[in-house]
Amino acid sequence: MYCTRKVTDDLIWVGADDRRLPFFEGVYGVPDGVSYNSYLLLDEKTVLFDTVDKAVYGVFLENLAHALGGRSLDYLVVHHMEPDHAATLELVLQRYPEVTVICNAKVKSMIAQFFPAPLTERFQIVKEGDTFSSGRHSFRFIMAPMVHWPEVMMSYDETAKTLFTADAFGTFGALNGRLFADEVDFFAEHLNEARRYYTNIVGKYGPQVQAVLKKAAKLDIALVCPLHGFVWRKDFDKYVEKYLLWSGYVPEEKSVLLAYASVYGHTENAANILAAKLCEKGVKVRMYDTSVTPASYIVSDAFRCSHLVFAATTYNAGVFVTMETLLHDIAAHNLQNRKVALIENGSWAATSGKAMTEILSGLKGIEFYEQKVSLKSALTDAQIDELEALAQAIADDIKAE
Ligand code: FEO
Repeated sequence: MYCTRKVTDDLIWVGADDRRLPFFEGVYGVPDGVSYNSYLLLDEKTVLFDTVDKAVYGVFLENLAHALGGRSLDYLVVHHMEPDHAATLELVLQRYPEVTVICNAKVKSMIAQFFPAPLTERFQIVKEGDTFSSGRHSFRFIMAPMVHWPEVMMSYDETAKTLFTADAFGTFGALNGRLFADEVDFFAEHLNEARRYYTNIVGKYGPQVQAVLKKAAKLDIALVCPLHGFVWRKDFDKYVEKYLLWSGYVPEEKSVLLAYASVYGHTENAANILAAKLCEKGVKVRMYDTSVTPASYIVSDAFRCSHLVFAATTYNAGVFVTMETLLHDIAAHNLQNRKVALIENGSWAATSGKAMTEILSGLKGIEFYEQKVSLKSALTDAQIDELEALAQAIADDIKAE
């Protein structure tokens, strides 16, 4: 049975939630589910904005048919070809063969890649600044390459002042009946998942996100419709502020991310002592065991915190595997402009400090503390002083900034 929501008098959300997906993109756990948003405009012509993942195709097709109310589907705008939004293109085009697909040239070539048997001959190809009218509504198209694939574009409805933003401004988490960000306490309850979504999905492409934010800043925006998560009709500027920080690799807060990898607890012990000393000095600490917390959560807080401490044991003459995975993930997401401290451990030859430095040293604006704490199996009394000195150096930096 259909389950739709009205966005405005003539725009209907026809998407769906998926609460059974274990891993988004096969890697990011989504314990609160995810929504795939699709929107139908009922103007003089009907226009569908994107489709959904194949996992929810059944309810989506019911939603679409119900929202159309017996009308034909005239246009389908494809903003992004990643299959979480485009996997059901084929089904839509089979059901509504008269539809014209509006997309850019890159989207068209990706449609041919994903669907080798031609789906339709009806295309209207658009580029930056091109316009389209569905009757009362006029649209302008804005190219948004690498937010988060190269073919991505956005649409701006000049009549309703609605921006369709593709993946940008999405979040992890099912909608659960809510549609608008102002129907929840977004910044208290959903910002962490929005940050985890942004940093892991788009975090690598900060300059491209900033380029689109510059274009969007020139628009009069009343409504923002992303492909995941909530629709924005108020306080969108507060969310943009977060995007400006994340995409500029600027920390959101003066705080310490402390991530450790420990096999028998000795490295963990050093991390605990450092965390306690930092807290005693009034520094906020966000602490994770890399063998327990999936990397996507720690990557997200690495974008959030100004200072990063990594503590890891040596393993296979390198760094312990869960820390190695995390650091490669942080490097792959192009994190910049952070101050980093390291604690290494090794019972016969400690190499984890060197290995961690090598993974992170190529990143722009990464500065390492000179004092590296090097354990030989377990912490010694003398090394308590080293941890105290490191905590003091970090606290002094944070207070001075
Ligand atoms: Fe939600 Fe890049 O797909």
